[in-house]
Amino acid sequence: MERREVGSNVSRRRFLRGLGAAGVVAAVPALAACGDDATEPVGQDTGPAGGGGSPAGGGGGEELAVGIMVPLSGTYASLGRDMINGFQLYLDEHGGQLAGRPVRIVEGETEANPEIGLRVARRFIEEERLPVVTGIVSSAVALGVRDLFDERQVPLIVSNAGANDVTRAQRSPVIFRTSFSNWQPAFSVGQWAAENLDVDTWFIIAPDYAAGHEDAAAFREAFADAGKEIVAEAFPPFGTTEDYQPFLSQIRQSEAGGVFAFFSGGEAISFVQQFRDFGLKDQLTLIGPGFLTDEGVLPAQGDAALGIRTSLHWTPLLDIPKNQEFTQAYEEAFGMQATVFSVQSYDAAQLIDLGLADYDGDLNEGAAVAEALAGVGELDSPRGPFRLDPDTHNPIQPFYLREVQEVEGAEGGLANAVIEELGEVRDPGA
Ligand code: BEZ
Repeated sequence: MERREVGSNVSRRRFLRGLGAAGVVAAVPALAACGDDATEPVGQDTGPAGGGGSPAGGGGGEELAVGIMVPLSGTYASLGRDMINGFQLYLDEHGGQLAGRPVRIVEGETEANPEIGLRVARRFIEEERLPVVTGIVSSAVALGVRDLFDERQVPLIVSNAGANDVTRAQRSPVIFRTSFSNWQPAFSVGQWAAENLDVDTWFIIAPDYAAGHEDAAAFREAFADAGKEIVAEAFPPFGTTEDYQPFLSQIRQSEAGGVFAFFSGGEAISFVQQFRDFGLKDQLTLIGPGFLTDEGVLPAQGDAALGIRTSLHWTPLLDIPKNQEFTQAYEEAFGMQATVFSVQSYDAAQLIDLGLADYDGDLNEGAAVAEALAGVGELDSPRGPFRLDPDTHNPIQPFYLREVQEVEGAEGGLANAVIEELGEVRDPGA
């Protein structure tokens, strides 16, 4: 990773504009820096998104039905909502069309459960014969459905789940990712910590499922040659842990100086609040992948999150016009802040729009549709321009070391400020 220090690269005025909060005075200069089960229907069909016109268009107006597999309940419910919103925003900005075709969105509720995810995927592929599917929050769900999409040659655009192997050993010509591999944010924050923090002993904590273990492994890898010590690790049960006290006791007893934590959604709120309430916040350094303090959880975490440093490929404070337009439009459309999950799903819609712009073949010829998607080139994302690795279909993109700081005008007064650019972080691949 190439990195360079950045100064005050985001004006507060622009940030406020992005948040639709004009007129508020800054306190801190900105910145540096389908409830589905066996009997329930899987898909909720939201109907054609309507007329208008996309600039792209090789489809001659034929309807394009896109499946979105997301959790709408449980720990990751808000992530699923954000992903639906992000996709919808892109559609709304393009007259309800992708690649010249009116779009019908079909929602499928997966929770974060691989069995439910597989049922949704089967229904989308075998019964509804949807030509393209996107979404998927959980690595466990992604790993569970990967073979089905590959075998049936149905294009899948993963817009969150970071399971490394989906774009490494188990990569497929029909599977794409507009988000990240779990390795990318975990390794980059680990490498930054190893090189920049005067903390020699670390504790790893993450939920006990694929993403938690992959994040822990990437953090360990970053520390392998750095002369730092990982003194202990804990993997609380995923989706059911509400009380982190037993794990916080372990952290205290370990006498580690720093904690690497991967949590997201409701678990990120609980962990960060309890870490403060247990008295560890003032004693230990807390870092992690950026989901720990993303905009969807930060207002609820409040001051408990202040000062936490994380690595991610986006923050609403990125000072680029595309991001300012996106965050403002999102806020206006949905009355809430955009999140990284909405960005990734917005870009999944963009990938379909641009990738299929010149495609005039049969939409159910999955291999041909995937080939068209693979040729998309650079995407102009709110995160900045990025491209997919031609071999793995995982994003090659810059990451940012962020710190939760007070920013008046931000929801709850807090935001993830960029304190260092970490440069392009490319997954090592298979
Ligand atoms: C995952 O399971 O891959 C994941 C879930 C939430 C945030 C980031 C990654």
